[in-house]
Amino acid sequence: YKRVTVKSLIEMKQTGEKISMLTAYDYSMAKIVDAAQVDVILVGDSASNVIAGHETTLPITLDQMIYHASSVVRAAKRALVVVDIPFGSYQSDSKEALRSAIRIMKESGGHAVKVEGGEEIKDSVKRIIQAGIPVMGHLGLTPQSIYKFGTYTVRAKEEAEAEKLKRDAKMLEKIGCFALVLEKIPAQLAEEVAASLTIPVIGIGAGGGVDGQVLVVHDLLGMTHEFNPRFLRRYMNLYDEMGKAIGQYVDDVKSRDFPNESEQY
Ligand code: KIV
Ligand code: NA
Repeated sequence: YKRVTVKSLIEMKQTGEKISMLTAYDYSMAKIVDAAQVDVILVGDSASNVIAGHETTLPITLDQMIYHASSVVRAAKRALVVVDIPFGSYQSDSKEALRSAIRIMKESGGHAVKVEGGEEIKDSVKRIIQAGIPVMGHLGLTPQSIYKFGTYTVRAKEEAEAEKLKRDAKMLEKIGCFALVLEKIPAQLAEEVAASLTIPVIGIGAGGGVDGQVLVVHDLLGMTHEFNPRFLRRYMNLYDEMGKAIGQYVDDVKSRDFPNESEQY
């Protein structure tokens, strides 16, 4: 396998090849995602929702993110593995931010980190990049700030917020971020930002005018079923499929159909 690197992502933007990115939080899923040639695996703090069942991404800890990331790293032979730094591990000061990023790199073996925000976290991003750790930015709907926004609705519809987002995007590129996620903002704004930057812009709910797409793998597979935003394309309905299979297993155990003669020693 030829490993995807931060360099290859920038080349993909230059040649116009769209970047595919998906989340994974564990070894078995990451194996499948990696074998399917997904370019970037994001160990998202969405694990807080999808895996741990919390309402927000705020509770997940740095130790928990490292556990998820190390499991994914063991599976990923080709994909670039990017790890979210969780809420509370980089906002207070840039030294703490660097310490958190270093722990992720050393203890999980991930290849890059992702942080949410712009001007507010500039010093932290700079310091992490200075240490040689690639940083992916994340603007627009930034779930770690959900209590500031109040809702998970589309961001940057108003001029002032759109202007700040454009400034933040430019700034993140200038200080050395290798890529940027834009979440749930108008497609036209996302396209404009992607066109104004040389680093790749990866969208979720940000339209097709960007350089790549990211989804939560459990959403794409239809394992989650209460989350139905417009931007989500479900490729399977695993919630129902898995429920049927597991229900069949229960029936087979109860009816003594399982195990049969050939399924025992
Ligand atoms: O945690 C996550 O899954 C993310 C993506 C939605 C970009 O940050
Ligand atoms: Na995230």
